[in-house]
Amino acid sequence: MDIKKVKEELLNDMNDVKDLKELEELKIKYLSKKGLITELNQNIKNIENSEKKEYGMKVNELKNSFINFYDEKKKYFDELILNAKLKNEEVDISLPATKILTGAPNILEKIVEEIEELLISMGYDVVDGPEIEEDKFNFELLNIPKGHPARDAQDTFYIEGEDILLRSQTSPVQARVMLSNNGKNPIRMICPGKTYRRDDDDATHSHQFMQIEGLLVDKEVSLSDLKGTIDIIVKRLFGDKIQTRFRPSYYQFTEPSVEVDISCFNCDGAGCNICKHSGWITVAGAGIVHPNVLRDCGYDPNIWTGFAFGFGAERLAMLKYGIQDIRTFYMTDLREVKSFDREEI
Ligand code: DAH
Repeated sequence: MDIKKVKEELLNDMNDVKDLKELEELKIKYLSKKGLITELNQNIKNIENSEKKEYGMKVNELKNSFINFYDEKKKYFDELILNAKLKNEEVDISLPATKILTGAPNILEKIVEEIEELLISMGYDVVDGPEIEEDKFNFELLNIPKGHPARDAQDTFYIEGEDILLRSQTSPVQARVMLSNNGKNPIRMICPGKTYRRDDDDATHSHQFMQIEGLLVDKEVSLSDLKGTIDIIVKRLFGDKIQTRFRPSYYQFTEPSVEVDISCFNCDGAGCNICKHSGWITVAGAGIVHPNVLRDCGYDPNIWTGFAFGFGAERLAMLKYGIQDIRTFYMTDLREVKSFDREEI
C-alpha cells in the first residue's frame, strides 16, 4: 500500500473509533510489527534514493499524527471510564440508614442518679459502704441486738459464722458515717447500694436489690424536716402534684418510725391497679434516728437529732417505668431492656 492509501484508511478509521478497545485495535493495525505504518517504514528500502528523504518524512508525519491522535483519544476514553465507574459507585446519602441500637444507662442507675443529683444540690454527700458487712454495723449498732426478733424480717445471708454477712440493708452505712465523724459534725449523706436477702418469693422480690439510704444528723431536726425532704424527692421523681403521707410504722433504729406513701401518680387517688385501689403507694421507710443509735455511734442524743430514710430503688423504677417483674432489671435480653429507655439512631 502506498502512503496515500494508508493515510486515507487511517483518516476513516480515526473517524470511526468508538471506544478504547477499537482504539487499541487501531494501534495494532498501524503500529505493530506488521502494522500498516510499520510496513510503510520498512518499504523505504524500495524507494529511489532521491525520494527517500521525502518519503521518510511523510511516513513519519503520518506516524506522529496517529500517535498524537491515539494519546488524546486514550486520555478521553480513560476519563469516560473513570467517570462511569464513579457514578456507579455513588452512595445515596439520602437513603434511610439501618437503625443502630445504642447503649443507655440502666434505669435503676438513672433513678439513683436523679436522686443523687437532687440531694447533692441540697448539700448531701454520696457515700459508699461495703456489701460484705459485719453484724455489728448491719444490726447491733442499729439497735437490733443478737436474738432480737426484728432480725427475722431480714432473711440475711451469713458468710462466716454469725458475724460476717451480706448486708441486708444500706442502713449500716449510717453507723459507719456517724462513727467516722466522731460525734462532732452534722451529717447529710445518702448511700445508694446493693443489698441482699434470702427473699425471692414473687416477681416483686429478688435476693439482690438496691436501696437508697439517707441520713441527716444535726440539731433540732424534726419529722417535718423529714417530710419536706421526702416530699421534694418524690415530686422530682413523679411530678409536682404528688402528695406525701406518713403512716406510723416500726423500725428498731428510728423512733418514731414511718412508712412513706405517695399519692398514686397513675389515678390521682381514685384507685387503680398500681396502687391496689387504695390511692396510695408505699415507697420508703423512714423516721427520726433512735437515741440509742445516735449514742452507740458516738453522737450525744441530748445535743443531736436526725432523720433517716430508705428507698427501694427497684420499687421506684418499677413504679416510674411500669415494670411488673423485678428480675427484668438484671436481665441481659435486649428485647426486654430496649423497651425501657433506649434510643435508636
Ligand atoms: N433499712 C430499712 C429496710 O431495709 C429501710 C429503712 C427504714 C431505712 C427506716 C431507714 C429508715 O433509714 O429510717 O427495710
